[in-house]
Amino acid sequence: MPNNAPTNYSLKKTDAASEKTTLLQAIKKLLPLMKGEGRNASFAFVAILLSSLSSLLAPIIIGRAVDSYIAVKNFGGLMHATELLLAIYLVGLAAQYYQTITMGGVGRRVLYNLRNALFTKLQELPVAFFNQNKAGDLISRINNDTDKLNQFFAQALMQFLGNIFLIFGAGIFLLVLNIKLGLAALVPAVLVLGITQLISPWVKRVTLVSLRTLGNMSAEVSESLSNFRVIAAFNRLDYFTEKFNEANQTNYRAAVAAGIAQNVFTPIYTFASTLAQLIVVSYGIYLISHGVLTLGLLIGFLLYANSFYQPLRQLAAIWSSLQLAIAALDRIGEVLNLKSNVGVVSTSGATADSRSILAFEDVGFTYPEGKEVLHNATLNLDKGKTYALVGPTGGGKTTTASLMARLFDPTKGTITLLGRDLRSYTPEERAQKIGFIPQEPFLFTGTIGDNIIYSNATYAGYTNEQLLEALKRQGLEKLLGRFEQGLDTKVTTSSDAISLGQKQLIAFMRAVLREPELLILDEATANIDTVTEQLLEEILKKLPKETTRVIIAHRLNTIENADEIFFVNGGEITPAGDLEHAVEMLLHQKRGS
Ligand SMILES: Nc1ncnc2c1ncn2[C@@H]1O[C@H](COP(=O)(O)OP(=O)(O)OP(=O)(O)O)[C@@H](O)[C@H]1O
Ligand SMILES: [Mg+2]
Repeated sequence: MPNNAPTNYSLKKTDAASEKTTLLQAIKKLLPLMKGEGRNASFAFVAILLSSLSSLLAPIIIGRAVDSYIAVKNFGGLMHATELLLAIYLVGLAAQYYQTITMGGVGRRVLYNLRNALFTKLQELPVAFFNQNKAGDLISRINNDTDKLNQFFAQALMQFLGNIFLIFGAGIFLLVLNIKLGLAALVPAVLVLGITQLISPWVKRVTLVSLRTLGNMSAEVSESLSNFRVIAAFNRLDYFTEKFNEANQTNYRAAVAAGIAQNVFTPIYTFASTLAQLIVVSYGIYLISHGVLTLGLLIGFLLYANSFYQPLRQLAAIWSSLQLAIAALDRIGEVLNLKSNVGVVSTSGATADSRSILAFEDVGFTYPEGKEVLHNATLNLDKGKTYALVGPTGGGKTTTASLMARLFDPTKGTITLLGRDLRSYTPEERAQKIGFIPQEPFLFTGTIGDNIIYSNATYAGYTNEQLLEALKRQGLEKLLGRFEQGLDTKVTTSSDAISLGQKQLIAFMRAVLREPELLILDEATANIDTVTEQLLEEILKKLPKETTRVIIAHRLNTIENADEIFFVNGGEITPAGDLEHAVEMLLHQKRGS
């Protein structure tokens, strides 16, 4: 039995949960993103090991040179040692360069794949998701958050591994060269690691907050951009400026806090490093004075202490990048892990009433985080008939139509199309059988031609001439005639070159051309003049006999010819009898409320 509990698609629930991610969990989360990059990553890894190895070998050669050549003035030997050092440095440098280039590529591909995955996911998600989340925040996830992961893979990951190797190597050298001096040199490191452990959750939290406030700011920008006309008309520039300022300030404060948090490690690590050098020098000189240590060994020792603390200090910066990557991945994961509830469910075969096209059985619907719009609606639409939905503003007509086109799933009961659960049809099958002209038609940037054949497999490859023929067959060419440049008329979503009524005409042509079995018109003629409206009616009459029409209209003359009228209000869909009675119900409702 398909589950139809309402799904909550609101993001940003996981702020607190992810604070506890440990390093190991973090790596486990991040590594799968590198799928298919195994070869590149392995080569880069070998390269970074080589580069670290070169840093590890240098101090011992320098220490040796001091004791064996400089002390006894053997310049030939010193020359030799210098050449060896130069060769080692060059190899290290080349390896480092190779690593940077390779991982740069890996990072860019991770970025590319993540953006693709996110965008594909967004297309699978139901309308409810977009109702509950702001476009700007989603854009920020696609643009900003994915880039944080790119930066982590391109810059931080291999440095992280190389530094770990360097720290371990240097630590071992320190302990082997002189265990007491080695232990003394490592004491500050233990302190520093303890402090890191302690403050990491805080760093993670403020980092996440700064990403989220960035998302909010971007949401604010996109909202005011899409509403700029209303803002200008009501002269509310001050209001939006204020709102934007607020979001900008919140983001600024969060960014400052994140900056402080991310940079707090650097001074702590630098202090530890300085402390260690001090310990080595004073304890080392003490040991030399007792004849237990040579000057060369002490120099080697200092260099190793440096090789130990330098990467540790860098690790602090990498650690911040890791925190940022994890926070970003959490935000991306929130979207990627959402289960779409508009999947295709399997049901037992059709229980065919061959006359019925669409039926509501005890349908209830509540918007996520909203109120109940339908309570217990039962409805049956027969093939070939014309139905009208009337009712007060906000009564639930558009919601009912959206349920018919499966923009939402009912939260209770079932809707069947041709006797089968509506959810058991693939999106293609559904789009072929049901044509929906929404109250606010949406057009894409392109030409009218592009918009008419949008997602219509039958006409996809048609030339303009062929398309014109098809339009003529359905009597649509007169509508097209309202546009001077016909199919080539330019459509842009951002300008007013196309009026609302014209948009409705294009949406009408798009829906009718598909020859759907069920055609739903939600106020599709509300902005169209009376003469054109009569034209639309004629076209509707010419549709195949089997086509069922559902018409939602406030202008009652539009529904004069309906076979049956339903009244939608108060959670119910009730048969309203003839037009006169429907008017009566509307008036009564108005007086009563
Ligand atoms: N996306 C949404 N989220 C939450 N509530 C919604 C949403 N869309 C509509 N509603 C609510 O559902 C109720 C029914 O809205 P609906 O759009 O179906 O009404 P309608 O009958 O089409 O109204 P109109 O005649 O103005 O087009 C309204 O109270 C509205 O506030
Ligand atoms: Mg409506």
